[in-house]
Amino acid sequence: MNSSTRFVVDVLKRNRKRIYTIVLVATIGAILTTATPYIYGTLFSLSQAPDTAANLLLALIGIWLILSLLSNYISNMTGYMGEVLGVKISQESEAEAYSHFLTLPILFHKKEQRGEILQKISRASWSLQDIVATISDVLPQLLMLLFSVVAMFVIKWQLAMVLLITFVVYGIFTIKLVNPEMIARRIEHRTYEKQYGRVYDKLYNVFLVKNFVMEDEERKRFFKSLVEKILPVVKNAAGKSRRVSSIQGIITGVSFVIVLGGAIFFLKAGQITPGEFIMFFGYINLAFSPLRFFGSLYRRYKRAVVAVRRFLKLRRITPERMTHGKKTLGNFKGEIVLKNLDFGYLKEKRVLKNINLKISPGESVALVGKSGVGKTTLAELVMGYYLPNKGKIEFDGTDISELQLKWIRDQIAVVPQDLNLFNDTLINNLKYANPDATEKQVIESCKAASADEFITSLPKSYHTKVGEEGVKLSMGQRQRIAIAMAFLKNPKVLILDEPTAALDAESERKVQEGINRLIKGKTTIIIAHRFSTVRNADKIVVLEKGKITELGNHTELVKKKGTYYHLYKLQRGLD
Ligand SMILES: Nc1ncnc2c1ncn2[C@@H]1O[C@H](COP(=O)(O)OP(=O)(O)O)[C@@H](O)[C@H]1O
Ligand SMILES: [Mg+2]
Repeated sequence: MNSSTRFVVDVLKRNRKRIYTIVLVATIGAILTTATPYIYGTLFSLSQAPDTAANLLLALIGIWLILSLLSNYISNMTGYMGEVLGVKISQESEAEAYSHFLTLPILFHKKEQRGEILQKISRASWSLQDIVATISDVLPQLLMLLFSVVAMFVIKWQLAMVLLITFVVYGIFTIKLVNPEMIARRIEHRTYEKQYGRVYDKLYNVFLVKNFVMEDEERKRFFKSLVEKILPVVKNAAGKSRRVSSIQGIITGVSFVIVLGGAIFFLKAGQITPGEFIMFFGYINLAFSPLRFFGSLYRRYKRAVVAVRRFLKLRRITPERMTHGKKTLGNFKGEIVLKNLDFGYLKEKRVLKNINLKISPGESVALVGKSGVGKTTLAELVMGYYLPNKGKIEFDGTDISELQLKWIRDQIAVVPQDLNLFNDTLINNLKYANPDATEKQVIESCKAASADEFITSLPKSYHTKVGEEGVKLSMGQRQRIAIAMAFLKNPKVLILDEPTAALDAESERKVQEGINRLIKGKTTIIIAHRFSTVRNADKIVVLEKGKITELGNHTELVKKKGTYYHLYKLQRGLD
C-alpha cells in the first residue's frame, strides 16, 4: 500500500463507526432499490393475466410506492451522512496540517512560500472530503450491481454475459487511460500551488506593493498567474479527463444498446415475457449506474491520491523539536557557553567560524558588528533555531541538543527589532507571553516597560484591539509591548535584537528605560548599534567576517584602539 492510500485508510479507520453506520443504511437502500424492478415487472405480468384480482395489484402498487419513497429517503440520508463525514475528516486533516506547519523548523518557514503550502493543504483537504463522501457508497453500489446481474442472469443469461464482458472492457480501459490524466492533474496541482504562492506573497507584502505604487502592475500579474498560467494546465487535464469519460461513455452506450436490443429480440421471439422485459430494462439501468459510479470513483480516488501525496510530503518534514533531546534542567542558572562553534546556512558558506564565548549567569553581552556579519544568526542558534555544524552551545554545561526545545524556548524571551502583533486586544496579545498572568501582573509589566502610559491613553485602554478602532501602534510603542511581554515571561535569558535601531531619540529613551529595568539580573545577549546601549554591557563582542575579533568591556576596548574604538569614534562624531 502506498503512503497516500495508507493515509486515507488510516483516516477512514479512525472514523470506523460512522462509516459502518453509513454503509449499513446505504446497503438497506441498495436492497430496496434492487427490489423495485422485480415488483413493477411482476405487476406488469399480473396486469396482463386475465384472472388477477384488483386488490392484489393495488397492494403491490402500495408496496412499490413505499419502497421507492423509502429508498429515496435512505439515499438522501446516506448522501447527507457522507457529506458530513467528508467535511469532518477534511477539517480534521487541515487542523492537523496547520499545527504541523507551526512545528516545522524556522529555516523551512524562511524558505517556503506560505501561499504554496496553504494551497497544498486546502487542495488535499478538498480531495479528501470528496473521496470520503463517495467511499461510503462503494459497498451499496457493489451490492446493487451484484443483485442486478444475478437478476439478469435469472431472466436471460445470454444478455447478462454481454454485460459482464462490458464490465471487463470498461475496467481495463479506465485503468489504462487514467494515468495520463493523473500526470496532467499533478501538473495542475503544482501550477495552482506555485501561482497562488506568488499571489499570496504579494498579499502578505501589500505595504511594499503600495510603497512602489505597483497595484496596477500586480493586477496584471495576478491575471497572468491566476488565469493565463492556470487555465492551460486545467484545460489539458480536463481534456484528458474528457477522453476517459467519452471512452467510458462509448463502452457503456454500445453495451446498453446491445443488451437492450438483444432483449427486444428475445421478447419478439417470445423467449421472455413482456413483464420480464420491463424487469430486465429496470435492471440494466440499475447495473449501469454502479458501473459509472466505479468509473468515476476510481478516477476521483486517483485524483485525490495525487493531492494527498503532495500534502503528505509536507507532513514528512521533521518538526524541529525532533532534532532535540528531552532533558530539562531543574535549577537553570543562566550560563551560556559557545564552544568552537561553526555555522552556515549553506555548506559552502560559513557564517560563523570558531566562536568561543562564555556568558555567566546574569551577565549582559553586547554583539557589535557590520550588518550581515551573523549577529542575528548567533542569537538564533542560542534559541535552538538551528544546530551548529561544528562545536556546541551549552546551557549550564549541558549541550542544548540534549535539551528539550520547549524548555529552551521557555528560558528565553526575545525582544525583536519589530514586533508583529495578533489582530486581538492588547491584553490578549500581552498574555500570549504568559497565559496565566493576571490583569494586575500585565499592568505591572507594562509599567516596568514604560508602556502603561500610552496604553491607558488609548480609547479602550488594555482592551483596545490592535489594528482596529483606528489604533495603529508606532514602532516605539510596539517595542515597549515587546519588553512588557519579556517581563511577563520573566525568563532567565534575554535576547534583544536591535531593539532601538529604528527609533527616534524620544522613543529610544523610553524603550531604553524599559530595557535597563528588564535586563537586571538576567543573562542577556543584546545586539545593538547605539553605543548608549552597548557601553553598559558587561562584555562587548566584536564580530568581523564571522569571527570574534575583540572581546572586553567598553573601557578596555576603547583603550585597545581597535575596530570597536573606530566604530565608537565614528558614531560619536555623528551623534
Ligand atoms: N535563512 C538564511 N538562509 C541563508 N542565508 C542566510 C539566512 N539568514 C541569514 N543568512 C545570511 O547569513 C549572514 C548573517 O546574517 P545575519 O545573522 O542576519 O546578520 P546580522 O544580524 O549580523 O545582520 C548574512 O550573510 C545573511 O545573508
Ligand atoms: Mg540582524
